[in-house]
Amino acid sequence: MKSLVIAALAVTGLLLGGVAHASADKANAAGCMKCHDVEKKKMGPSFKDIAAKNKANKDYAAAATAKIVSAKGHPKSSASEADVKAVMDWVMTL
Ligand code: HEC
Repeated sequence: MKSLVIAALAVTGLLLGGVAHASADKANAAGCMKCHDVEKKKMGPSFKDIAAKNKANKDYAAAATAKIVSAKGHPKSSASEADVKAVMDWVMTL
């Protein structure tokens, strides 16, 4: 079962590899990259750090989206909830 999940994730990773650029563009368009970077800490933590820290929590993307959209515990974002969620789903694949 576990190896099946890992295999599924690997395939997803391969598939996402093809669209990773589009998602980075989305994060850019949503303004996230003003304060975040995939690899390095900027004003906010790097997206890879965020993903690594929260991988075990499958509700994290939704919780973080709510936090960002409501601007509670996160600087206000002008991106729509759907865009923030799409970026968060991508972040969790990093
Ligand atoms: C104005 C700067 C700024 C912008 C724009 C910004 N962030 Fe952040 N973000 C931060 C800072 C600063 C933190 C650290 C906040 C803290 O931990 O107190 C953070 C933290 C986070 C976290 C971790 C939150 C947690 O508590 O686990 C996530 C996830 C995140 N940002 C995602 C995003 C996404 C997605 C976008 C684009 C929609 C975005 N951020 C746009 C500055 C920004």
